[in-house]
This record gives sequence, structure tokens and C-alpha cells, in this order.
Amino acid sequence: MELLSSGVALQTVPEKYIFPAHKRPAKELVDSSVALPVIDLRGGRLQGDGRDEIVREIVDAGKQFGFFQVVNHGVPEQLIEHMVGVSEELFNMPVEEKAKYYSDDPSIICRLGSSTPYDQNGIRYWRDYLKLVCYPVEEFMHLWPQKPDKFREVLAKYIVEVRELADKLLRLIAEGLGLEQDYFSGGFSGGQTQMNVNYYPPCPDPSLTLGLLPHCDRHLITLLVQGTAARGLQAKFEGKWIPVEPIRNAFVVNFGHQLEIITNGVLRSVEHRAVTNTSVARLSIASLIMPKTDCLIAPAKSLINEHNPPKYKSFTFEEFLSAYNAAAANREGVLEYFKIEE
Ligand code: OGA
Ligand code: NI
Repeated sequence: MELLSSGVALQTVPEKYIFPAHKRPAKELVDSSVALPVIDLRGGRLQGDGRDEIVREIVDAGKQFGFFQVVNHGVPEQLIEHMVGVSEELFNMPVEEKAKYYSDDPSIICRLGSSTPYDQNGIRYWRDYLKLVCYPVEEFMHLWPQKPDKFREVLAKYIVEVRELADKLLRLIAEGLGLEQDYFSGGFSGGQTQMNVNYYPPCPDPSLTLGLLPHCDRHLITLLVQGTAARGLQAKFEGKWIPVEPIRNAFVVNFGHQLEIITNGVLRSVEHRAVTNTSVARLSIASLIMPKTDCLIAPAKSLINEHNPPKYKSFTFEEFLSAYNAAAANREGVLEYFKIEE
């Protein structure tokens, strides 16, 4: 078992976490002058005048950044705080307790791990995580951690709310693209929901390490909560990395590969990564909405025509997952499999 959150803080960065110079998070490539759009969902009751404006804001953000934050989103703030609380408790449990959930076998549905499965050169990422399938709740709940005591109960409530918000956002997105409102209901969003609870302990030298590699999410859409005031998540924008400002109880929303492909590139799936910091452990909770494995993914018919031909082939989500793993999550590598050459 190789967890960073082992109860003993490291004073120096062990060799195997040190990236070669060209892969380290260079300061010159971070642009703090650009911030992601923050969209006010007005409590989630999206009728009336404000609706068109919100739709426009979401689509504009999707085209420009592939990322935005939502506030006033209708998910009870107390529930988000409970979810963050039980997650922190989980990583703060004694090592013996955490060992019960630890595994390096990616086929295990709920497991605690460290680094990522994509650390190709054997260099490790400065991150512990709990990865689990959390929806449908009844099907997977018995596999979730039994400790901390409230973990299951809180997660079950949290994920239902998060799914509801995701459905709402997907309807707004469909509307904004001129698709039927329920275009993304059914197979595109009807698969499992996976959750990554990411935990980045303080790092003695963040200039040498990465918390998470640059990647695009493999799913449809991701809703992420940042549990601490510390920065760490960064999104690619015009060749640079922009820090995603932590906003208490806001959701960071980003589009996965599937949304980019279904919209024939209108909405962007953007690379993001996590960097570390010296002072506090940073927690994030990412809920990833997935298509059904046998769902056929292809650019939406109404978004293609003779002037705007399809950029991607069609495939099942299952085929996509194999390619994603084969390309070790590298954006260009993944898209290589599905792009139609011009
Ligand atoms: C992820 C992810 C970023 C973060 O889990 O896919 O991109 O801030 N996490 O932890
Ligand atoms: Ni991600």
C-alpha cells in the first residue's frame, strides 16, 4: 500500500514523485489574469426571463473555455459541506482503517488508491483518491466505505442532487445548441456515475510535482466541488494554464470527450490538471456522468451538414473507454482513434 496520507508528513519530495524538468508545472505557463465564467443558476428554478440568458452563458462558456462554475445551483449547501466533511474524515482515518479499502486493481468498483493508473514512466502523482461508482445508488451502495459512519448516507443523498443538477444543465445545453431538450437524457447520460474523491496532501516542493496529469475527462460531463480554499485545479486556455478559483460550495463544470464529440466540436472538452501546494491538504470531489456502455456516440445529426461535416466517427462508449486507456488519457492520442481526417 502506497498512500501519501499515511499520517506522516514528508519533509522532502521522494525521487519517484519528481518529474523531469519539461513536465513540471512551469510558472511562466500559468496565467492568473483569466478567470472562468461564474454562472448564477438562480436557485435552479429555471423558468421565465432568466432562462435564455443562462442558456447563452453556458453555451458561450462551453465554446470558449469548456469549463465554468455554477453558484446558486439548487444543491443544498449543507449537503455539499457534509460530503466534503465525510470525505476529509475518510482520508484522515488511521492507515489500518484505510488499508481495508486500498487496492491497485482498477476493476474494483470502490477502492482507495494513490497517483494514477496513467503514470507511464513510473513517476508518481502527488494524489491519493477514492474512486467509486455511486449511481444507481441502490446497486452500488453496499460497496461503498462503511467508515466514516455517515459516509454512505451522505453520499447517497449527495449524488442524487448532483445528478439532478447535471440533468438540468444538460437540458439547458441541449436547448442552447438547438437540440431537443432531452437529447442527452437516455443513453448519453444514463450510464453509471463515477466519483473521484481526490486528496492532495501538502507537498514540500510543488515546483517538482503534479497532483494529476493533464487530461480530458472520458465521460459526458463532470461536476466538481473543491473542498478547500487552496488552489490546485488548472484548465488549459490559449496554450496556458488558468487556475480555477475555489468558490465555496460552487460546482466546477467541465465537458468530457463525449460532449465534444456529440456536439461535433462546438463545445470543448478541455485539458486540465492539478498542481500541489505546500500549506494545506486539498480535497476535490468529481462526479462524472457517463453514457451507457453500449450507447452509440456520434456527432448529432442536426449539428452536421455539407458545410460542417462530421469530425468524428461513431463508436460505442465501451470502444471509447478502451481507446482512452490505450492512449493513457492523452487528449490527442485518444482523439486519434475517432477523428475523421479532413
Ligand atoms: C478529475 C479531476 C481535478 C481536481 O478527477 O478528473 O480532474 O481538482 N480532478 O482534483
Ligand atoms: Ni478530470
